[in-house]
Amino acid sequence: MFSFNKIVGIGTRDIHNHLLPGVDDGFRHAEDSLEAIKRMAQEGCKEIYMTPHMNPDVYPDMTEAKLKEVYDSFIPRIPSELGVKTWLAAEYMVVNNFQDRAASGELLTFPDGSILIEMSYYFRSDNLEDTVFALVTEGYKPILAHPERYLYMAESLRDFDHLRDMGCRFQMNRLSLTGIYGGESITIIDYLLSKGMYDFMATDLHTVTQLDKLTTQKVPRRIFNMLPK
Ligand SMILES: [Fe+2]
Repeated sequence: MFSFNKIVGIGTRDIHNHLLPGVDDGFRHAEDSLEAIKRMAQEGCKEIYMTPHMNPDVYPDMTEAKLKEVYDSFIPRIPSELGVKTWLAAEYMVVNNFQDRAASGELLTFPDGSILIEMSYYFRSDNLEDTVFALVTEGYKPILAHPERYLYMAESLRDFDHLRDMGCRFQMNRLSLTGIYGGESITIIDYLLSKGMYDFMATDLHTVTQLDKLTTQKVPRRIFNMLPK
Protein backbone atom coordinates (compact mmCIF):
# COMPACT_ATOMS: atom_id res chain seq x y z
CA MET A 1 0.00 0.00 0.00
CA PHE A 2 1.40 3.39 -1.00
CA SER A 3 1.34 6.31 1.36
CA PHE A 4 0.90 9.40 -0.78
CA ASN A 5 2.52 11.92 1.41
CA LYS A 6 5.27 13.80 -0.41
CA ILE A 7 4.67 16.89 -2.51
CA VAL A 8 6.20 16.56 -5.98
CA GLY A 9 7.79 19.99 -5.55
CA ILE A 10 10.17 22.07 -7.64
CA GLY A 11 13.60 21.51 -6.14
CA THR A 12 16.38 24.03 -5.64
CA ARG A 13 17.63 23.97 -9.23
CA ASP A 14 15.52 23.63 -12.38
CA ILE A 15 17.40 22.55 -15.50
CA HIS A 16 14.45 22.26 -17.88
CA ASN A 17 11.56 24.66 -18.37
CA HIS A 18 9.89 26.92 -20.92
CA LEU A 19 9.84 30.08 -18.82
CA LEU A 20 11.53 32.27 -21.43
CA PRO A 21 8.44 34.05 -22.77
CA GLY A 22 7.18 34.16 -26.32
CA VAL A 23 9.63 31.84 -28.02
CA ASP A 24 7.95 28.40 -28.01
CA ASP A 25 4.85 26.58 -26.72
CA GLY A 26 5.68 27.53 -23.13
CA PHE A 27 5.02 30.84 -21.39
CA ARG A 28 3.66 33.47 -23.75
CA HIS A 29 3.77 36.60 -21.64
CA ALA A 30 6.65 37.96 -19.60
CA GLU A 31 4.27 38.79 -16.73
CA ASP A 32 3.30 35.13 -16.34
CA SER A 33 6.95 34.04 -16.49
CA LEU A 34 7.84 36.57 -13.81
CA GLU A 35 4.99 35.38 -11.60
CA ALA A 36 6.12 31.76 -12.01
CA ILE A 37 9.75 32.61 -11.27
CA LYS A 38 8.69 34.49 -8.15
CA ARG A 39 6.68 31.50 -6.93
CA MET A 40 9.53 29.12 -7.73
CA ALA A 41 11.93 31.31 -5.74
CA GLN A 42 9.50 31.32 -2.80
CA GLU A 43 9.48 27.51 -2.96
CA GLY A 44 13.28 27.52 -2.71
CA CYS A 45 14.30 27.19 -6.36
CA LYS A 46 17.22 29.55 -6.83
CA GLU A 47 18.90 28.28 -10.00
CA ILE A 48 16.93 28.29 -13.23
CA TYR A 49 18.25 27.13 -16.59
CA MET A 50 15.87 28.23 -19.31
CA THR A 51 15.56 25.68 -22.08
CA PRO A 52 13.33 26.78 -24.96
CA HIS A 53 12.56 24.28 -27.70
CA MET A 54 14.90 24.28 -30.66
CA ASN A 55 13.07 22.32 -33.33
CA PRO A 56 13.40 23.45 -36.94
CA ASP A 57 10.31 21.43 -37.91
CA VAL A 58 8.12 23.49 -35.57
CA TYR A 59 10.07 26.76 -35.16
CA PRO A 60 11.95 27.10 -38.44
CA ASP A 61 12.90 30.72 -37.83
CA MET A 62 14.29 30.25 -34.33
CA THR A 63 18.03 30.62 -33.89
CA GLU A 64 20.42 30.56 -30.95
CA ALA A 65 21.15 34.26 -31.55
CA LYS A 66 17.45 35.13 -31.37
CA LEU A 67 17.02 33.23 -28.11
CA LYS A 68 20.00 35.05 -26.63
CA GLU A 69 18.45 38.36 -27.62
CA VAL A 70 15.11 37.53 -25.96
CA TYR A 71 16.89 36.19 -22.89
CA ASP A 72 19.08 39.30 -22.53
CA SER A 73 16.08 41.59 -22.66
CA PHE A 74 13.95 39.48 -20.29
CA ILE A 75 16.43 38.75 -17.50
CA PRO A 76 16.76 42.34 -16.17
CA ARG A 77 13.03 42.18 -15.36
CA ILE A 78 13.55 39.46 -12.73
CA PRO A 79 13.65 41.26 -9.36
CA SER A 80 17.13 40.83 -7.87
CA GLU A 81 15.69 40.44 -4.36
CA LEU A 82 14.38 37.01 -5.40
CA GLY A 83 17.99 35.80 -5.36
CA VAL A 84 17.48 33.69 -8.48
CA LYS A 85 20.38 32.91 -10.80
CA THR A 86 19.51 32.13 -14.41
CA TRP A 87 21.21 30.71 -17.48
CA LEU A 88 20.12 30.20 -21.06
CA ALA A 89 20.39 26.77 -22.65
CA ALA A 90 17.94 25.00 -24.99
CA GLU A 91 16.07 21.74 -25.54
CA TYR A 92 17.13 20.36 -28.90
CA MET A 93 14.85 18.02 -30.81
CA VAL A 94 16.85 15.19 -32.34
CA VAL A 95 15.66 15.84 -35.89
CA ASN A 96 17.16 14.26 -39.00
CA ASN A 97 20.85 15.02 -39.28
CA PHE A 98 20.93 16.87 -35.96
CA GLN A 99 24.19 15.07 -35.24
CA ASP A 100 25.78 17.21 -37.96
CA ARG A 101 25.30 20.26 -35.75
CA ALA A 102 27.48 18.82 -33.00
CA ALA A 103 30.61 20.17 -34.65
CA SER A 104 29.12 23.60 -35.41
CA GLY A 105 30.02 25.09 -32.04
CA GLU A 106 26.78 27.09 -31.99
CA LEU A 107 24.70 24.95 -29.67
CA LEU A 108 23.26 26.44 -26.50
CA THR A 109 24.54 24.37 -23.62
CA PHE A 110 24.78 24.51 -19.85
CA PRO A 111 28.00 26.09 -18.52
CA ASP A 112 29.62 22.65 -18.10
CA GLY A 113 28.88 21.59 -21.69
CA SER A 114 25.76 19.59 -20.87
CA ILE A 115 23.14 19.75 -23.58
CA LEU A 116 19.45 18.87 -23.30
CA ILE A 117 18.00 16.78 -26.15
CA GLU A 118 14.55 15.36 -26.75
CA MET A 119 12.64 13.11 -29.15
CA SER A 120 9.09 13.06 -30.46
CA TYR A 121 6.46 11.53 -28.16
CA TYR A 122 5.23 9.44 -31.09
CA PHE A 123 8.31 7.92 -32.68
CA ARG A 124 11.90 7.30 -31.91
CA SER A 125 14.59 9.36 -33.64
CA ASP A 126 16.50 6.99 -35.94
CA ASN A 127 19.63 9.01 -35.28
CA LEU A 128 19.45 9.14 -31.46
CA GLU A 129 22.55 6.98 -30.97
CA ASP A 130 24.40 8.80 -33.77
CA THR A 131 23.54 12.10 -32.09
CA VAL A 132 24.70 11.00 -28.65
CA PHE A 133 27.90 9.68 -30.19
CA ALA A 134 28.56 12.89 -32.14
CA LEU A 135 27.85 15.10 -29.13
CA VAL A 136 30.08 13.11 -26.80
CA THR A 137 32.83 13.06 -29.44
CA GLU A 138 32.68 16.85 -29.62
CA GLY A 139 32.95 17.15 -25.84
CA TYR A 140 29.30 17.78 -25.00
CA LYS A 141 27.47 15.96 -22.22
CA PRO A 142 24.06 14.95 -23.57
CA ILE A 143 21.04 14.76 -21.26
CA LEU A 144 17.93 13.08 -22.66
CA ALA A 145 14.87 15.00 -21.47
CA HIS A 146 11.95 13.06 -19.96
CA PRO A 147 12.69 9.51 -21.17
CA GLU A 148 9.50 8.42 -19.39
CA ARG A 149 7.46 10.38 -21.94
CA TYR A 150 8.68 8.27 -24.86
CA LEU A 151 6.11 5.55 -24.22
CA TYR A 152 7.37 3.45 -27.15
CA MET A 153 10.61 2.97 -25.22
CA ALA A 154 8.75 0.81 -22.68
CA GLU A 155 9.13 -1.96 -25.28
CA SER A 156 12.90 -1.66 -25.37
CA LEU A 157 14.06 -0.67 -21.90
CA ARG A 158 17.51 -2.12 -22.46
CA ASP A 159 18.17 0.67 -24.98
CA PHE A 160 18.47 3.02 -22.02
CA ASP A 161 21.41 0.98 -20.73
CA HIS A 162 23.11 1.32 -24.11
CA LEU A 163 22.53 5.08 -24.21
CA ARG A 164 23.85 5.31 -20.68
CA ASP A 165 27.00 3.41 -21.66
CA MET A 166 27.48 5.86 -24.51
CA GLY A 167 27.53 8.77 -22.07
CA CYS A 168 23.91 9.94 -22.13
CA ARG A 169 22.26 11.02 -18.90
CA PHE A 170 18.54 11.15 -18.15
CA GLN A 171 16.24 13.83 -16.75
CA MET A 172 12.83 13.06 -15.28
CA ASN A 173 9.92 15.47 -15.42
CA ARG A 174 8.63 15.96 -11.90
CA LEU A 175 5.02 15.86 -13.06
CA SER A 176 5.55 12.41 -14.61
CA LEU A 177 5.66 11.07 -11.05
CA THR A 178 1.94 11.69 -10.71
CA GLY A 179 1.26 9.04 -13.35
CA ILE A 180 -0.33 11.44 -15.84
CA TYR A 181 1.38 9.74 -18.79
CA GLY A 182 0.02 6.28 -18.03
CA GLY A 183 1.26 2.75 -17.46
CA GLU A 184 4.09 2.66 -20.00
CA SER A 185 5.49 5.83 -18.51
CA ILE A 186 5.44 4.28 -15.05
CA THR A 187 7.17 1.17 -16.46
CA ILE A 188 10.00 3.38 -17.74
CA ILE A 189 10.21 5.34 -14.48
CA ASP A 190 10.37 2.13 -12.45
CA TYR A 191 13.11 0.75 -14.70
CA LEU A 192 15.29 3.86 -14.64
CA LEU A 193 14.79 4.51 -10.93
CA SER A 194 15.53 0.90 -9.98
CA LYS A 195 18.82 1.13 -11.89
CA GLY A 196 19.65 4.55 -10.47
CA MET A 197 19.78 5.99 -13.98
CA TYR A 198 17.92 9.24 -13.45
CA ASP A 199 20.48 12.00 -13.02
CA PHE A 200 18.20 15.03 -12.89
CA MET A 201 14.69 16.08 -11.97
CA ALA A 202 13.16 19.14 -13.61
CA THR A 203 9.82 20.88 -14.06
CA ASP A 204 9.63 21.18 -17.88
CA LEU A 205 7.26 23.99 -16.91
CA HIS A 206 5.08 25.39 -19.71
CA THR A 207 2.23 27.00 -17.74
CA VAL A 208 1.27 28.37 -14.34
CA THR A 209 -1.26 25.55 -14.06
CA GLN A 210 1.57 23.01 -14.09
CA LEU A 211 3.23 24.98 -11.30
CA ASP A 212 0.02 24.66 -9.25
CA LYS A 213 0.15 20.89 -9.74
CA LEU A 214 3.81 20.64 -8.79
CA THR A 215 3.20 22.46 -5.53
CA THR A 216 0.12 20.46 -4.52
CA GLN A 217 0.23 16.94 -5.98
CA LYS A 218 1.74 14.12 -4.00
CA VAL A 219 3.70 11.01 -4.85
CA PRO A 220 4.26 7.74 -3.00
CA ARG A 221 6.94 8.03 -0.36
CA ARG A 222 8.59 4.85 -1.74
CA ILE A 223 9.14 6.56 -5.11
CA PHE A 224 10.09 9.89 -3.58
CA ASN A 225 12.89 8.30 -1.59
CA MET A 226 14.43 6.88 -4.79
CA LEU A 227 14.64 10.23 -6.59
CA PRO A 228 17.87 12.07 -7.33
CA LYS A 229 18.30 14.95 -4.90
FE1 LIG B 1 10.70 20.76 -22.50
